[in-house]
Amino acid sequence: MGPAPSKSFTPLRDLPDIKGKVVLVTGSSSGIGFAALQHLVRLGAKVYMTARSEERAKSAIERLEKEGKEPGNGEVLWHELDLVDPRKAKASAEKFMEKEERLDILINNAGLFVEPTLSSLQLSERFIPV
Ligand SMILES: NC(=O)c1ccc[n+]([C@@H]2O[C@H](COP(=O)([O-])OP(=O)(O)OC[C@H]3O[C@@H](n4cnc5c(N)ncnc54)[C@H](OP(=O)(O)O)[C@@H]3O)[C@@H](O)[C@H]2O)c1
Repeated sequence: MGPAPSKSFTPLRDLPDIKGKVVLVTGSSSGIGFAALQHLVRLGAKVYMTARSEERAKSAIERLEKEGKEPGNGEVLWHELDLVDPRKAKASAEKFMEKEERLDILINNAGLFVEPTLSSLQLSERFIPV
């Protein structure tokens, strides 16, 4: 087991300056990915939110605005990504490279917990490798 997380860690105070950095957080329309994205945007980064549907991305971006995105913060842009099919994942990466010349930070967050009783077929449909 690794070291326990620091109880005094405060993202806005303890993370380095990332203004203008290009960041991509996979699976950031909800959960841990969304929380990471919120901090990165507040620190001034240009953050790509990946989600499979534009609708889910839009509602997450609305939530982000409501929950305290302020002038001077970075920006959030939706980027479509579905990791179930490697061909779709590759196409998504290629599209990203058309949009940006660099990627400073990649957070490979997207994923799902898998119930141990699933068959291999169900696994291939439902498990997202990260
Ligand atoms: N929560 C925990 O206690 C915990 C503990 C240990 C590890 N983790 C890991 O931490 C990560 C995030 O967990 P979470 O609880 O925040 O999960 P979550 O709230 O369910 O969010 C999962 C994210 O993954 C995206 N996603 C789902 N299927 C996808 C697919 N096929 N292709 C691309 N993106 C997909 C979803 O985006 P869309 O549906 O919008 O595409 C969503 O934003 C996961 O890898 C999980 O295994 C979580």
